[in-house]
Amino acid sequence: MSPASTGVPTALTNVHAQTTLKDAFKNDFLIGAALNEAEFTGQNITAVALIKAQFNSISPENALKWDSVHPKPGVFDFTAADRYVKFGERNGMFVVGHTLIWHNQTPKWVFQDKKGNPVGRRTLLKRMREHIFTVVRRYKGRIKSWDVVNEALTRDGTLRQSRWMEIMGEDYIAKAFEFAHEADPEAELYYNDFTLEKKMKRKGAIKLIKKLKARGVPITAVGLQGHLKMKWPTFAQEEATIVDFARLGVKVAITELDVDVVPATQGNKTADIKVNAKRVAGADTYSNGLPDGVQRALAKRYAGFFGVYLKHRDVIERVTFWGVTDRGSWLNTRGRVNHPLLFNRYGKPKPAFTAVIQVAAK
Ligand code: XIL
Repeated sequence: MSPASTGVPTALTNVHAQTTLKDAFKNDFLIGAALNEAEFTGQNITAVALIKAQFNSISPENALKWDSVHPKPGVFDFTAADRYVKFGERNGMFVVGHTLIWHNQTPKWVFQDKKGNPVGRRTLLKRMREHIFTVVRRYKGRIKSWDVVNEALTRDGTLRQSRWMEIMGEDYIAKAFEFAHEADPEAELYYNDFTLEKKMKRKGAIKLIKKLKARGVPITAVGLQGHLKMKWPTFAQEEATIVDFARLGVKVAITELDVDVVPATQGNKTADIKVNAKRVAGADTYSNGLPDGVQRALAKRYAGFFGVYLKHRDVIERVTFWGVTDRGSWLNTRGRVNHPLLFNRYGKPKPAFTAVIQVAAK
């Protein structure tokens, strides 16, 4: 498809040919993308070309989640995960692991005995240890960074009443980090969550990180997922969030960046995957493409956020996009056609791409 027919001016494709994201920020932080199976197995040729050219870090969109690698008791399946890690190694990329302990995409059996009754703390602790040891050890020295615990907090900053929490109590978090560290002492270990820009939730996260550090838990960084909106958060909120965590002596990464462009009235108010998976009628505002005005606003949004990231490059380890092209984004759900990334459905750079590159050039 020619640039003209995708509505992208030729000048932009030339910029794309000259400057890449990873080069533009090579002295600042890694630039990552989350990959799906069609990408890390090489099937999606357009995406693979972009990934190799633009990114120096990868995250697995689903391939390392509990239900992918450990679907049944005693049954591990690393077919996809192995290919993901090999893809990263072949291309000299920083390979991220996502995620060890989460309340989603974790099979029910993990929390139940053979009769379907809830297991006790000891059993769950044993299962957690077995899972973390098996997965982390397999990729020891190869997966450089693990999202150890994902989304343990609720919006008011209290600990989420997940099955982990209900059965094990709050030290399930510390335990997960300790097991991961024992399994690979060199790996960077992350606490990862969304909407930490919101004050109440951030307060809860700060409390959690302080507690973990006081206990001597080896936590390297906080991952701000970065599922952003057109009107939320403000650049000032984003900056305050980065500064607040940096103050605790942990690094920060943006781990799942995208900007949801579909108006919030159409039911995209959360990064909660269960809520997001439901279809909402009439939510396909931009199914015929993104209007120029919104395209420009998106570019401004991205430029603003990258300005903040760059200003705090001393604590920002990595900025990872949750996807490569708009076509592959998880935000094309709920009947919405979304345009949240830097490359459009045809893999062509959008004005937001140029805007981000220009931030680096300043
Ligand atoms: C999403 C994937 O992108 C989807 O393919 C999957 O169906 C659901 O999970 N926060 C996270 C990610 O930490 O693991 C989620 O990924 C997006 C929200």
